Amino acid sequence: MIDVTVYKFLHFLGIIMIFVSLGGVMVHVFNGGAKVDNVWRKPAGITHGIGLLLVLLGGFGMMARLGIPWPWPGWLFVKLAIWLVLGGMTGLLYRLGTGGKSLWVVVMLLGAIAAFMAIMKPL
Ligand code: HEM
Repeated sequence: MIDVTVYKFLHFLGIIMIFVSLGGVMVHVFNGGAKVDNVWRKPAGITHGIGLLLVLLGGFGMMARLGIPWPWPGWLFVKLAIWLVLGGMTGLLYRLGTGGKSLWVVVMLLGAIAAFMAIMKPL
């Protein structure tokens, strides 16, 4: 049986991967770069995709080990919604280009809210 700490580690590794890739894409597009001229597009995309998978795998693994049943608590739905938004973020960044600079803060806030939800469980 895989321990809850393994799932938590995978969860955190996935989070790191998502935010590293989004940071890289943001710097590229805010410098005026497009999707086609991003030479690091593929590694960044793969890192983002695997990161999303690991967050989900780790998240659902922890849910199973911690015995969180359906109906899920509200904080989990908030985290799933944030995961979805972060999943669409790369495409949105490429589309908005330099016009998406406010997403620099939005991405940080989304990460902070997701962490807050898991730690404080206000819902
Ligand atoms: C990228 C978005 C996410 C971030 C930044 C994030 C962040 C975190 C953090 C920091 C913790 C550790 C809390 C602690 O150790 O006390 C955690 C735990 C957890 N996360 Fe996430 N998470 C995200 C997405 C998700 C998703 C999509 C799910 C559901 C599939 C999920 C399910 C969980 C569960 C079940 C825990 C364990 C809560 C507990 O220990 O009681 N997370 N998350």
